[in-house]
Amino acid sequence: MHDIIHADCFEWLADQQENSFHAVVTDPPFGVLEFSETEKAKLRNGNGGVWRIPPRIGGCQRAPLPRFTVLSSEQCQHLDEYFEVWAKLALRVLRPGGHLFIAANSYLSHVVFSAVARSGFEKRAEIIRLVRTLRGGDRPKNAEEEFRGVTVMPRSCYEPWGLFRKPLDGRVQDNLRRWQTGGLRRLSDDRPFSDLIESERTPVRERKVAPHPSLKPQSFLRQIVFASLPLGEGVILDPFCGSGSTLAAAEAVGYDSIGVESDLEFYRMAVSAVPRLAALQVPLFCYPSRAKQGVLQPVLFEGGQPYESQSGELGEAGTETSCRRVGVTKRSRAG
Ligand SMILES: C[S@@+](CC[C@H](N)C(=O)[O-])C[C@H]1O[C@@H](n2cnc3c(N)ncnc32)[C@H](O)[C@@H]1O
Repeated sequence: MHDIIHADCFEWLADQQENSFHAVVTDPPFGVLEFSETEKAKLRNGNGGVWRIPPRIGGCQRAPLPRFTVLSSEQCQHLDEYFEVWAKLALRVLRPGGHLFIAANSYLSHVVFSAVARSGFEKRAEIIRLVRTLRGGDRPKNAEEEFRGVTVMPRSCYEPWGLFRKPLDGRVQDNLRRWQTGGLRRLSDDRPFSDLIESERTPVRERKVAPHPSLKPQSFLRQIVFASLPLGEGVILDPFCGSGSTLAAAEAVGYDSIGVESDLEFYRMAVSAVPRLAALQVPLFCYPSRAKQGVLQPVLFEGGQPYESQSGELGEAGTETSCRRVGVTKRSRAG
């Protein structure tokens, strides 16, 4: 079950009851600037601003990416304040021991993560989503020939996600009993959640369903959403839900969720996209038990259960795989 709300999440969070959500999984407007009305108008008209339109590659036009390097030091300061205020609001509505998974990028993660930690969250880890984006790797602008051997920024090959926790109410076991939060859900007895996740760019078939410029792939989101509820029960909140990909991931693994989106066009997109994204069968790549054999295994969630491929070979992103069940049982919701 999911619910999507058209609202500003700052106002909406302030109206919610304390300790009401079990986890927050979100991909915020990182540069803040890129989802301002002016910049969204530029994106929709296809005329730049902070939205860089990447060149056609192999005859196919890539989705626009925001250029975070254009942020000034004042804008970084604004980002810091924005996330401190936001994180305090999120902290209040999370249950003690509840986790926050927050997307970032390697260029600005220190600003956001330190603001979140200052607000009262404990920093627990960084989840590395291995993915090759088109960011970075460029030669100096307008002097490409002169400096052919130079790159200004490294080509980005990973996306950091901050993992934070609201301070516990007692020991982990007490917290799990009282609030159903405090830990992360394991994939199986011998497979804890891991901080390195082999991922992919968002497949075209998902982009067709939800043409949001920051759409995250289901194959990745389903893994972090699954991990976010240690007992497999509770409600996940995404306060910057965009086209609803987190909610779709929650639906696919059998969890309840609530999303908030301030932009009417994206809100409408989410309403139509969530059930369609949730219905997609996707192979999930993770570093599994067989990593010691040098094999990455696709894992597929179906009806709230993770499955793994019979062959144990790496499936191609966006294809369906023949699967068998991994030994994880879904717990029913308490009361
Ligand atoms: C990076 S995008 C998230 C995209 C999402 N991961 C997806 O897959 O569709 C951030 C979203 O937050 C929304 N947003 C920005 N400020 C907001 C606010 N104050 N309240 C709610 N939503 C907001 C933007 O309109 C944008 O859709």
